[in-house]
Parts: sequence; C-alpha cells; structure tokens
Amino acid sequence: MKKLKLILLTSLILFGISCKKLNTNNNKLETKVDSILAIMTLDEKIGQLNLVAGNMDQTGPTTNKEYEKDIKDGRVGAILNVYGVEQVRKLQELAVKNTRLRIPLLFGYDVIHGFKTIFPIPLAEACSWDIELIEKTARLSAEEACAAGLNWTFSPMVDIARDPRWGRVAEGSGEDCYLASLIAKARVIGYQGEKLNDPLTMAACVKHFAAYGAPIGGRDYNTVDMSDRMLRETYLPPYKTAVDAGVATVMSSFNELDGVPSSGNKYLLTQILRNEWGFKGFVVSDWTAINEMVNHGYAASEKKAGELALNAGLDMDMQGAVYFNYLKKSLDEGKISEKQLNESVRRILKLKYNLGLFANPYLYLDNKREKEITYSKRHLDHALLSAKESIVLLKNTDYKGRKLLPLSKSVKKIALIGPLADNKKDMLGTWNAQGDENKVTTILAGLKSKYPESIIEYTKGSDFNGKDKVGFNSAITLALKSDIVICTIGENIDQSGEAASRSEIGLPGVQQELMEELVKTGKPIIAIVMAGRPLTIEWLSKNVNAILFAGHLGTRAGDAIADVLSGDYNPSGKLVMTFPRSIGQVPIFYSTKNTGRPFDAKNSYTSKYLDISNDPLFPFGFGLSYTSFEYSNLKLSKQSIQNSESLTVTFTLKNTGKYDGEEVAQLYIRDLVGSVTRPVKELKGFKKVFLKSGEQKELSFSITENDLKFYDANMKFLAEPGKFKVFVGSNSVELLEADFELL
Ligand code: NOJ
Repeated sequence: MKKLKLILLTSLILFGISCKKLNTNNNKLETKVDSILAIMTLDEKIGQLNLVAGNMDQTGPTTNKEYEKDIKDGRVGAILNVYGVEQVRKLQELAVKNTRLRIPLLFGYDVIHGFKTIFPIPLAEACSWDIELIEKTARLSAEEACAAGLNWTFSPMVDIARDPRWGRVAEGSGEDCYLASLIAKARVIGYQGEKLNDPLTMAACVKHFAAYGAPIGGRDYNTVDMSDRMLRETYLPPYKTAVDAGVATVMSSFNELDGVPSSGNKYLLTQILRNEWGFKGFVVSDWTAINEMVNHGYAASEKKAGELALNAGLDMDMQGAVYFNYLKKSLDEGKISEKQLNESVRRILKLKYNLGLFANPYLYLDNKREKEITYSKRHLDHALLSAKESIVLLKNTDYKGRKLLPLSKSVKKIALIGPLADNKKDMLGTWNAQGDENKVTTILAGLKSKYPESIIEYTKGSDFNGKDKVGFNSAITLALKSDIVICTIGENIDQSGEAASRSEIGLPGVQQELMEELVKTGKPIIAIVMAGRPLTIEWLSKNVNAILFAGHLGTRAGDAIADVLSGDYNPSGKLVMTFPRSIGQVPIFYSTKNTGRPFDAKNSYTSKYLDISNDPLFPFGFGLSYTSFEYSNLKLSKQSIQNSESLTVTFTLKNTGKYDGEEVAQLYIRDLVGSVTRPVKELKGFKKVFLKSGEQKELSFSITENDLKFYDANMKFLAEPGKFKVFVGSNSVELLEADFELL
C-alpha cells in the first residue's frame, strides 16, 4: 500500500514539475493525463465531474451542506461561489492534503462585468462598439477575480437576444450576431490572456449553449423552437467564435431546442460542438440543468437524465449531484461507458493542468496580490472610461437657442430627481459579483464633483416599485424652482437579469406618472434612463427634451454620467438592441425579412399593425453625439466581384458640428435574391472614429465573398452569385447605399 502511495505521489509530482514543458507538447499532456486516469478509482473519476456550490453566494435554488466532506473524499472536481484567497485556500487544502490523488479543485464564479470593480453591464458596454475596451474589461475583471483565488469565470454570455421582455438581455451583447461574435472573442481573449497558467488569467466559459436567448414569450427558462437555419446563421456564431478563440469551457443552457433539452442534446454538444467545431475543452451544465430534464419530460428519472447528459457530451454537472449519485450505477448497468466517462475526466484534468494547478494548486492564492490589485487605480480608471463609452444619447433638442446637452455653463439651479440619482446599489446592475456598493459614485456625487454643491438639489420623487406618490410634491416643487430638471429613472438591480422577465417594459412603478407630472412644470427635462433592457419609452421620447440611455454602469457610474452631462465627454454609444415603441412590436430587430407584402402606406393588405407603426422607437445602431457627422461620397472600387476578389467601399465622414467626437460608422449589406430569402440588412463591419470639429476622413471597408455567405437551400454555407446592396451610415436606418454584383 505504502509503495503504491509512493508511486502515485511521484507520478503526481512529476506531472507537476513537467508542466511547463508539457504546455508545448500535447501528446505528453495526454500521456500524463492518461497516467493519472489509469490509477483513478471510479468514485474519483465521477468526483471530477462534480461541480458543487459553496455557501458564500446563492445563484441557484439548491444548497449542499456536505461539500467539505465530499471534497476530502475526493468526490468534488470544482467549486463555484467561493472566493477570496483564504476561503479558496481552505478548500484547496482540503482537496490537496486529504485526497488520495491530491487533484486540485477548479474555482468558478460568475465574473460577468467585473469582480470587485464593477464595469457596465454587458449590454451597456456592448453599446460602446469598442472591442479593445471590452477586451480590457475582461482582462481587468480576470485580474481581480484571480487575485481573489478564482480560476474560472462563467462568462462570456453570448446569447443573441431580440426580445427585451427576457431579463437576461442585460448579460449579452444584443441582437446582432456579427457584433456579438466580435465581443465574444474579445471577452474570451481578455479573460484567458495568452497563457492560462498565468495567475492573473482565468478559464472562460461561453454560455448558454445554445439559443437560450430566444425563449417563447421572453419568459426565462422557457422553450426555444427555431429552424436549424436560424440557429446556425444567427444564434450559433458567437459561440463558434468563442470556440475558435480557444474558450476553455462551454455551459449548456436550461432550455430545450426543438424538443431536446440542451443538457441532453447530442446534436448540440457532440455533433456541432465537437465534431463540426473541434471544441477540445469541457462542457459544464447550467445549475441543476441535468436534473431539470425530468421536469422537461425528457428523462423519466434523474439517473436517466445523467445518462442522457453524459452520452450527449456533457462533462461536468453543476450543483445537480446527478453524476455524483447515479453514474456508478449507470456504468454497472452498461448505460454509459467507462470510455465516455474517462473522456470527460480527461478534459477536466487537462484544464486543471493548463491552468497550472497541478504544478501549483495554490498558484492563484496570494494575499498580497489580492490587496494590490483589488480596486486599483487602473481598474477604477477603466471602469470610468467603459461607463462613459457605454452611454447612448437618444435625444437632444434645442432649448433657448442651443442643444440642451451638454449642460450650459450658466446653469444656476439643477433639480436632480428619481430613484437612481442618489443610489449606489442599483448602479451595479445584475450579476455584480463582489462589487462593493460603498465604492460606487452616485450620480448626485458625480454632479457635485463638477458643479458647486449649492446649485444642485436632489429629491427622490418615487421608488421603482409600488404605487407610492408621496414624493411627487417635493419633486414638482423642486422642478419649479430650478432652471433644469435631470430625472434618473428606469430599473433597479433586480428588474433585469436571471429570472427577471417582464411582460410590460415601460418605466416600472409610478415613474411614468412622476415624469408626466414633471413635464407639466414646463421646465426643460433631461431623462437618464438606466435599465438592463430596452424600455418602451415612446411617451418620454416625445415629451422630454433630452434622453440618455445608460444601462447600469457599475462602480464609476456617477462620474461617467457627470462627465457626459457636463460635456467633458461627448457620448458615442450606439444601441445594440432595437427599442420598440410598444411591447406589441416585440420581438423586433433590424435584420428582418422583407416579406411578400412589405408595408406600403397606400395598400392596406401589407404587413403592418392597425394601431402602431412597424418602425422601432430607436433603431439598432442608433446613438447621437453632441456634434454632428455627415456621410458622403460613397464609392465602390468595383461594380462586380468574382469569388476570391474583394471590394473596397470608401466614403467620407465629416464632423460637421462644434464638438470633437467619436462616431461608429456602420456597414450593412443586403443580398437581394437568394435560394432562401435574406434579411433586408446585415451588419458586416464598423469603425469607431474620432474626428475633431470640422475634420473629415476618407474611410473604407472591404467586402469579400466570406461576408456574403449564408446557409443556402441545401444548408451549405456559401455565397450565391447575384445582386447586392451595400449601405454605410450612422445607424441601421440612416444610410447611404450603392449596388454591386457577385459574379
Ligand atoms: C445559472 C445561470 O443561468 C448561469 O448563467 C450561472 O453561471 C449559473 N447559474 C451559476 O451561478
């Protein structure tokens, strides 16, 4: 027995020592992992597939009190919701010091938009259209999370979302798969860095595979049913891009797809993910998603659910204990094979190895680093930049001979009203990890840092929920004695995110009524709308003078808003989800089809509503600036291209206003006729450009055959010869256009 222990120990030590070399030699890694596998008992193998929630955070419905004992018994492979060097060390020691094989644990957490320093919610940050900025956010988030002992994040969430009733639109990058794919890649690279075994990088997990963003009725966890074409063309590309970027893990989603829950879906988890895309990492279920296949009516028992999941290609069970409880029996009965089990264990061990945990299980645990990195200036500065870039100016009308925003230098009395104005907690938004609300700058504090305190007065006016209007009177009184009214309205932290679908997406509670009262004062009103989703704010758009959409902006929210209001920063954000006029238009998105009867005002029998226009309130890609931009001189280098050629689209962009500013110039195409119908517009490129007032630049995009590909009538991904339109402009509606042909 002693001899066996010695051999095992030596083999593990050797495994650790040789980590660096193995990094460049995959075959050796395989051999080493195999050598561990060869000495693992069945219980130890199944243990590796068991992801257990610790008790520091509750991000799902169940708890597990026994996990420390299970760790010691070698029956846990990874932990979620435990963080902080000391807490992680305690559990890592349990695994490394007590178990026979001393296999270290993975520590996962939902680091979605920051760990301690909180950046804007992903939907807001996507509105920056700044891919480098987004990559850096992920990089810095990883640094803080790793400094707290974590080595695995359940991010990026890349679900395309076109229904703002779904609360989780807050976590994604909006409705467009081209933009969302670029963001997915940036986040994966940001988290994972160049080397996974760098103690400041962590494994990413792309989720929720697949199509979780399209639940019927926008109700979270609900059924998803879509064509394979829609799935492959629109919903899968961001996951695929993440896989191509080397994402270490994939999370299966809660939803069913075409009748098969994702966690038992072999088509998704094996055919597409592994066979077609060549994914080499491991798949983790979402929280108890394996167990839920019983509720779905897809498995008669949890044991059967476990078999379906493992056989479909799902490697790790998050908090469901299905593998833990039943896999051994399933193996005895021949319902799963040891080969399949070994494959899953192998994938998990490989990640532990790649993260450097075999070489040093305490690699991520350094108290000094935790102190130095957390809330460092670098993080806080980036949080401010990201928050500023996330803000979208939706309206800015003239008032007394000038645009209302930025605020006039001669403003004498500012009324600041609304439940988000002196508010720290809700600035953090959904999935705010360990963000400390005490570190948040409120909008009130932000404004006070720009203007003399004596000219700013605040009153809350109303809450987010309920019918209480007692605050209305003081809000109206304050508005009447001020020369400008800034209203901070929208959703609180719990009104978007997981399990936070809404059937009405107007301003919650009595905020709409509060706004109606304030408009009656006749004072100029700026509305700052903060929410985790597009809201139906048509009334607001007609009745207030200026609107900023600001998502939930994180730790530096107040500073960012103050910079924008004062004009120290000129807003440049562009919407990544269409804003509907009314809930009845949902789902609504720009890349729609033309239909056989496109709307024609002169013909009643065309596609329309009787009671509302087809047009959105604010289209995809829309966002104003304090300056103005003019697009002209659209030219194509050729009128036609052959298969391997490319086409250059050039145009002039001029800053025609008084302020320096940034513009996101967008490129769309339309394939006029296809073997299957094509959308009226598809985003194919964009450039974020800074221009000084009066400056102009010649800009260009290149279009290749690749940009014209789609799944044809035979589900082949190719470009079909024919006529195309190309559009360039400042949003998905206001565009210059030209034509070309693919020969
Ligand atoms: C359930 C959520 O759907 C998922 O996104 C998250 O990563 C897990 N819970 C863990 O908290």
